[in-house]
Amino acid sequence: MATASSANDLHGHSMGHIALHYVEEAMGPVAAKLLALIGFVETQMLPLPGGNFYRFVVNEQHRGRGDGILYLSCVPPAQAALVQAAREALGHGTDTPHPAIAALREALDHDPEYSFHVGILIDSLEELERITLDLRARNEGDPDLKGRLKIVVNRPQPGDAEIDARLDASPAFGDVTRYAYGRNGIQVFIETDLLTSGPLGESMVLELDYIFPGRDSHILSVVEL
Ligand SMILES: [Fe+2]
Repeated sequence: MATASSANDLHGHSMGHIALHYVEEAMGPVAAKLLALIGFVETQMLPLPGGNFYRFVVNEQHRGRGDGILYLSCVPPAQAALVQAAREALGHGTDTPHPAIAALREALDHDPEYSFHVGILIDSLEELERITLDLRARNEGDPDLKGRLKIVVNRPQPGDAEIDARLDASPAFGDVTRYAYGRNGIQVFIETDLLTSGPLGESMVLELDYIFPGRDSHILSVVEL
C-alpha cells in the first residue's frame, strides 16, 4: 500500500564520491594536507608505488558510508602522458602558446565556475571564515602551500539587510566586491595547482559554499543573472 512520504524519508540516489588527482607522486601529502585543512576527514592512506592513495569523507558521519567520499590519488600515467602531449602540441610554456590556452585562463580568472569544479556545502559561516583566513595566511607563509592557492570569494547579491551587515563586518569577507549569481549564500573558490583537472591539467577548483538559514531562494537553489 502506498504511503505518504516526506522529505525526511525519501530514498534514492545520493552523491557518492569524486576522484581527485594530484599532479605528481611527491605532492600527495601536501594535497592531502590541503583537503584536511578544508575540513575533510581522512579515513585511509594507502602507500602505493606511484603515490599515496587517500580516502576522505566530507564529515565524520560518512566514515563508513558509500557517499560523501573524496578519493585522492596521483594522476595515472596514461592521463599524464596525454596531458603532456597536448601541452607540447599547443606550445604550452613556450613563447608562442596556442591562444586558446590564454583564453581559457582569462575565462577562469573571470569566473572560477567556468570549467569543471567541485562544490562543498559548509553549514557554519564562522567555520567558512576560519578556513578562508587560514588558507589565505598559508598561501602567504606555509612552505607547503605558499603561492599554490588562488582564493576568490563571491558575496550574495545585496538586498538582505541582515546578511549584508553580517558580511560587511566579516573579517574574511568584508572587503569582497564580487557577487554570486544568486542570493543568500557565499562562495569561496580555492584554485590549486596541487590538483589536476581541465584540458591541460593545470589546476582544480574547489568551491566552499555557505547558505544563510531560513531562505528558500539562495545561490544553490536558483540561478539569478
Ligand atoms: Fe559552482
